[in-house]
Order: sequence, then C-alpha cells, then structure tokens
Amino acid sequence: MSKVTVVGAGNVGATCANVLVTQQIADEVVLLDIKEGVSEGKAMDIMQTASILNLNTRLTGVTNDYAMTEGSDVVVITSGIPRKPGMTREELIGVNAGIVKSVTDQILKHSPNAIIVCVSNPMDTMTYLIHRTSGLPKNRIIGMGGALDSARFKYFLSIALKANATEVEGIVIGGHGDTTMIPLKRYAAYRGIPASTLLPAEQLDKVAADTMVGGATLTALLGTSAWYAPGAAAAQVVAAVLHDQKKMISCSALLDGEYGEKDLCIGVPCILGRNGIEKIVEFDLNDEEKGLFAKSAEAVHKTNAALNV
Ligand code: LAC
Repeated sequence: MSKVTVVGAGNVGATCANVLVTQQIADEVVLLDIKEGVSEGKAMDIMQTASILNLNTRLTGVTNDYAMTEGSDVVVITSGIPRKPGMTREELIGVNAGIVKSVTDQILKHSPNAIIVCVSNPMDTMTYLIHRTSGLPKNRIIGMGGALDSARFKYFLSIALKANATEVEGIVIGGHGDTTMIPLKRYAAYRGIPASTLLPAEQLDKVAADTMVGGATLTALLGTSAWYAPGAAAAQVVAAVLHDQKKMISCSALLDGEYGEKDLCIGVPCILGRNGIEKIVEFDLNDEEKGLFAKSAEAVHKTNAALNV
C-alpha cells in the first residue's frame, strides 16, 4: 500500500493529485488544503472520472486535517501564493516561508518517515528552508524545479527540431529562476545526436532563452503561475521515488561539495529511488557552464539569506 499526500489544492496541487490518480502512481492519495471545501470538491471531481477512466487509486480531500495524512510515503508541498504577472518567484519568499515551515512541521508529526517533494516558490530556497528547519537527512528532501524546467527545455527543443518530445534529451540545472536556470545546450540531443549539430547556434540559444522564461511567459498569458506541467513534474518525481525507478531527474538537492558548492539547494541531476535522492550525478561542465553554475549558486545563496534561518 503506497500513500501520497499533496498539500495545497490550488492549481498545481490539484493537477499533481490528478496525475497521481489518472496514472495510478499511488494506491492512496490525500489532497489537503487550508480552505474549507476546496480539496474535498476537487478530490470528488477527480474521483468522478474513476469509472470513466477505469481507475483504482483512491483520492480523499481534507480541510487542514493532518491526521488524515498519517503514514504517507511521500508528501508534496505546493502550499503558498503563486506569482502574478511581472513578479519574480523570489518575491514570494516572505509569505511562503512561514507557510512551508508550518506545513512541514505538521506533516512530519504524522509521517515522520516521509520523503518531501517541495514545489512552493521560490523553490530552491523553500527546499533549503525545509532542510534547515526539519532535521531530515538530505536524501529525503527533493525540490521539484529542475524536472519542470527540463520538461520545458525538451518541449522547446522538440518544436525547434520538429521532433517528438519523448525522443529529445535535455536537462536544466541551476536555480529555478528566470535568470538562474541553466539549460545545458551541449548535452541536448535528439536520439543521441547532439542538438548543436542539428540546429543553428542562434536557434539553440533561443530554445534555451525560451526555457528560462518558460514560467514567466505562461504567467503573463494566464494571469497566474502555470499548473499542468508543474503538477505533472511533481508527480513524475513522486513516481520515481515511490516505484524506486532510479531515474535521473534534475532536482533541487542539498549540495555538500558537489559542483563546487555547499550549504545550498539547487538543481542538479539526481538519481531518484525509494530513498529519495540516492545520488547526485556530476556532469563534466566546461568553463562557461561552471561559471554559469557558480553565478546561479550565488543568486540562490542571496535569496536564502533573506530566510534568517
Ligand atoms: C513555474 C512555477 C511553478 O515555473 O515556478 O511555472
């Protein structure tokens, strides 16, 4: 029996729960929100697809009742306010830090062995906050940003290459911020063929630039932060952990010397399995990429400093 809790029944949390149910990733899913009725309503709506889609996963919506989350294997934290057009993810720190800390405390009271997947923004800093305040071992705290950014990179690559996105390779490391993420152009490929040999340099640069502002572009179009790909990316991380998939997914992980950095959470390629982050994979970066990573880490450190933890 596997159990997953998703905290926050906003667009991202509800989409994550929907993917967990429709892909039957867990046996049982609890969707919790502080707002009366919202999680119950969304859970009921999702479960009413069960007979249509032939689903066996059970989803329950609860209002702030953490006792119902008891014994969760994985907990996804999406709580907090999303950004509005023109805002950076970093501007959300004041409000979201308090929410994420209190949610983590309550979750761990009922599921002391859970692996935590952090989605709330600013994601790298919220992941770091959970590290600093929970006392959990570092393998059990996973920030989801790189999974989403890599999916967006593969999307823009697939359009440029006129290829199927599932046949395209692309990984994004660094911070989950408009100026801090690093789409690794040199490692982008179509069925093993380097994308740099298939696309003119300017077009590959444009793919990387579109990826970096991928979230901001959607926020401007939608009037609020995106949810389909963020929710699905969180569910992808849950599946890799719950099913011990040993998949390499870019996630925000606590670094202790890897990539020359320490004491911060930032996007790096991770092998995810039943123990959470089982390994951080160190890509061979060239000088330019190393420089970008160092700059990205510096920016994330700066945002972390506002936490006062
Ligand atoms: C985005 C938000 C979820 O990138 O950070 O869409």
